Amino acid sequence: PETNTHVPKRITVKALVESPALTSLPSNYSYTINPDESDASDPDGTLPIIDFSLLTSRDPHQRSTVIQELNKVCQDWGFFMLVNHGVPESLMKAVVDVCKEFFNLPMEEKMEFADKDIWKPIRFGTGVDVKVEKFFTWRDFIKVLGVPQFQFPNKPKGFSEVSGEYCKRTREVARELLQGISEALGLEENYIEKAMDLESGFQLFAANLYPPCPQPELAMGIPAHTDHGLLTFLIENEIGGLQIQHNGKWFHVNPLPNSFLVNTGDHLQVLSNGKYKSIKHRAVVNNKATRISVVVAHGPSLDTVVSPAPELVESESRPAAYMPMKYKDYMNLQLGGKPCLDHIQLTVT
Ligand code: SIN
Ligand code: FE2
Repeated sequence: PETNTHVPKRITVKALVESPALTSLPSNYSYTINPDESDASDPDGTLPIIDFSLLTSRDPHQRSTVIQELNKVCQDWGFFMLVNHGVPESLMKAVVDVCKEFFNLPMEEKMEFADKDIWKPIRFGTGVDVKVEKFFTWRDFIKVLGVPQFQFPNKPKGFSEVSGEYCKRTREVARELLQGISEALGLEENYIEKAMDLESGFQLFAANLYPPCPQPELAMGIPAHTDHGLLTFLIENEIGGLQIQHNGKWFHVNPLPNSFLVNTGDHLQVLSNGKYKSIKHRAVVNNKATRISVVVAHGPSLDTVVSPAPELVESESRPAAYMPMKYKDYMNLQLGGKPCLDHIQLTVT
């Protein structure tokens, strides 16, 4: 068959790192930062903490205090660490470990799942810089879709059980948290649950591998982006790399052990009519150790048409800032590389 010589062969970052001759960054991995992204950084701050146990507390005072905190944190940061969430530490560790084992499988076994189609139930791949398709980013990944049900790869042993249980547990926490967020927005407790059809809510499981990079300052793990959906939960092995945009700077996230890093996604921005923002974040790489992150995204059901909550719209002072769009259509836009919040934005919030 004819091959297009301009398109470099897709190879995993892991395989690249394991090839003996690698001493500098191959040129097709060198990443150009968008000129509109400030590169000032803020290495010393700490992310706000939300104590989940207060949300499920029987004491109404504790609950209302944490709901006020949620409101503040969602407005000021869009990212927080969730502690006392009840998901066992052993399960969190097991899911990171089993993902690591997946990436350690022989190349042919992972390549069975290689695909460009974002709707494949299981998809293994390596990062591509969507701005310039022939450039790569320093990341290998596996994504598994929870529609209608998760079907994880049957290798390595335990992958399916551990990850399935992890997705189930985080989903329960996310739904509870979304009740608190409904109240934080001044809506009825079950507003998001019902309006977003969370009973059939979409989930996406993704594990990312960032091997040590010979010239980390020239490469990028994941370029700056916002997440679709309502809430994303992230955990990692002990190696940092996540940065979030906060007050015009890149803020380095150093999570507390056993916490979830939670961020509000594009559809909470839409639903809240811009009160809560979906914050840009990215993953940078290092030259010392392999980083693994495990992400579970929690969204509306795929058929939900998401629009600002009518209670948060006032025709004169706060008109609807986004046009309604079906979640599935939005994902097609975003995963095709389009900046979609801009696409549906009607007024500046
Ligand atoms: C993501 O944004 O999907 C992952 C970021 C990370 O690996 O820290
Ligand atoms: Fe993300």
